[in-house]
Amino acid sequence: MYVGMQGDRKMGRARKIIFFSLLWSSCLALEGGMLTPKESRSREIKELNGVWKFRADFSKNRNTGFEQRWFTKSLSESGPVIDMPVPASFNDITQDPRLRDFIGWVWYEKEVWVPQRWTAVDSGQRVVLRVGSAHYNSIAWVNGAQVTQHEGGHLPFEADITRLVHSNPSQPCRITIAVNNTLSLHTLPPGSIQYMSDETKYPAGYFVQNTNFDFFNYAGLHRPVLLYTTPKAYIDDITVTTDFADSTGVVNYVVSIKGSSNPSVTVALSDKEGSVVATASGPAGMLKVVDVNLWWPYLMHENPGYLYSLEVHMTAKSGSSQYEDYYTVPVGIRTVRVTSHQFLINSKPFYFHGVNKHEDSDIRGKGLDWPLIVKDFNLLQWLGANSFRTSHYPYAEEILDMCDRLGIVVIDECPGVGIKDIRSFGNESLAHHLIVMEELVRRDKNRPSVVMWSVANEPNAELAPADYYFKSVITRTKSLDPTRPVTFVSNSNFNRDKGAPYVDVICVNSYFSWYHDPGHLEVIQIQLNTQFEDWYKKYQKPIIQSEYGADVVPGLHSDPPMMFTEEYQKIVLQEYHAVFDRKRKEYVVGELIWNFADFMTAQSTTRVVGNKKGIFSRQRQPKTGAFILRDRYWKLANETRRLPLAARYP
Ligand SMILES: *[C@@H]1O[C@H](CO)[C@@H](O)[C@H](O)[C@H]1NC(C)=O
Ligand SMILES: *[C@@H]1O[C@H](CO)[C@@H](O)[C@H](O)[C@H]1NC(C)=O
Ligand SMILES: *[C@@H]1O[C@H](CO)[C@@H](O)[C@H](O)[C@H]1NC(C)=O
Repeated sequence: MYVGMQGDRKMGRARKIIFFSLLWSSCLALEGGMLTPKESRSREIKELNGVWKFRADFSKNRNTGFEQRWFTKSLSESGPVIDMPVPASFNDITQDPRLRDFIGWVWYEKEVWVPQRWTAVDSGQRVVLRVGSAHYNSIAWVNGAQVTQHEGGHLPFEADITRLVHSNPSQPCRITIAVNNTLSLHTLPPGSIQYMSDETKYPAGYFVQNTNFDFFNYAGLHRPVLLYTTPKAYIDDITVTTDFADSTGVVNYVVSIKGSSNPSVTVALSDKEGSVVATASGPAGMLKVVDVNLWWPYLMHENPGYLYSLEVHMTAKSGSSQYEDYYTVPVGIRTVRVTSHQFLINSKPFYFHGVNKHEDSDIRGKGLDWPLIVKDFNLLQWLGANSFRTSHYPYAEEILDMCDRLGIVVIDECPGVGIKDIRSFGNESLAHHLIVMEELVRRDKNRPSVVMWSVANEPNAELAPADYYFKSVITRTKSLDPTRPVTFVSNSNFNRDKGAPYVDVICVNSYFSWYHDPGHLEVIQIQLNTQFEDWYKKYQKPIIQSEYGADVVPGLHSDPPMMFTEEYQKIVLQEYHAVFDRKRKEYVVGELIWNFADFMTAQSTTRVVGNKKGIFSRQRQPKTGAFILRDRYWKLANETRRLPLAARYP
């Protein structure tokens, strides 16, 4: 059973954590850190968002771009290019159905002037190219030279391009990025390409991409692309863990420096008003905060999402040069712990009343969209939601920043969705899954909002190799981060699920009266009750209902209720809620509706222009279910809050 770092409430334990993080860093697969790019006294950022040149490689083998070396010259010299916005999915930008459904390599290009103060030989600057995410497999070139290759659609990657930008400062810098959205049995999520060889039915060379997940496989440069600088000796990574005892907070930190063998490091922790409350020096240490303001979830406390900031300052000499670097991390002081029937944040029982989401919007697909992000947080607050799961892949750092600040609690899920084929449980898949978990933990480890890792959604966990597979992924994730519980989301039979013995919290999806017994609302309560009892009796672990819901085509009505109408969704929700209200007194610790909003899927006979299980439409207008949940969530908030709240129910 998982025991959080607050387990024995001894400050000495914090030192152990530092020791462990140093120990584990020696067996990591990844080189270096992946700090969110941020400006500071020593760092600058140049965003490359906007319109890029774009060309999809429609050739039969999708390989002409490599055969003709499109990266060696301006993309427009290779053939016709079109305008493509970044960040965005390319799929819905044009009127061409071949591009919407394209599978294979697409090519992006942007020319950019790099400021002289970055490129001067004596500038003492490193210049880094960073891609927030690109789906799925990417190769980047700068002025024709390959600088990086990355596999995986939802996590950042970067390349040090200092030498290349220094070598020709009188020319603009040409950045070419090729992205391939093909999914195989060993990618996350997995997929397979099916060639249709019957030429009486399909054109020559015809193939389709098959997947086992229920959302559109949007692709492209989905998150910001940027250049940033650091000094040549620089802060490469920072790891923060927190604890508290009575009114004293503890912040343990480990800083890793690159480019100097002999750096000196100081850190200063400031409160919200900017007053320094603790300082330390050295690459690792512990800060104590008297009269600590803990980080609390939204609606649990009148001051949710309290963040300190940890400013790290490095000074280093290298030859005759002196380098200084500054980087600031937000720090929320809180603890997470799981018992046999509770999920504790700051030692208080926490009940997840929240949602599952998607990064999905009209036109932009999965591209980062600021108006949508802010609108969604306004809707979450209107709803009284205190949490969400990043179903079914890691979301943008920009979104998690808001969660940290607002106190929205996050179950951080990796793209392990639709792992169904037995060939996706082999060692090649496993090796990639371990790297993805390491990339995810490396990116999000310092975030107070992230309280649990989810390593998969609805895998075929009843297959024999699922035992070794999930044992390996979960054990590795716990060793990467000993401070957070780990789960995966199951829809398997409770008795045959081979991964469940390894999780800290049982997360179950079920769709009674929808995929099972469609139309029979009267069986929901009995079946849901059985579900909870079965899982709890077998595992004695807290349970989250990680999905439930029903499709609604907005505006469809019927009484008595029928599937796809507003009335049907309303009754499904109410029937589930009646059971939640009995079981949350025992061991059910959360409910996450499927889904926050309607979203696009592949075309199929069961989908009407996408999945309609949202309580909001894709345009973010409420269905009847939204009002049911809003009423419920604010009542739950009233029951579980720690301190009197000003009447917040608007
Ligand atoms: C790129 O796409 C093509 C077409 O689906 C596929 O055959 C090829 O294996 C892909 N390459 C990579 C590296 O994903
Ligand atoms: C995967 O690797 C483990 C450990 O090396 C080994 O025991 C197992 O046989 C391998 N599985 C397959 C399917 O190759
Ligand atoms: C929550 O509590 C406040 C203050 O006691 C009360 O005014 C409000 O009606 C309650 N809201 C709900 C939804 O129960």
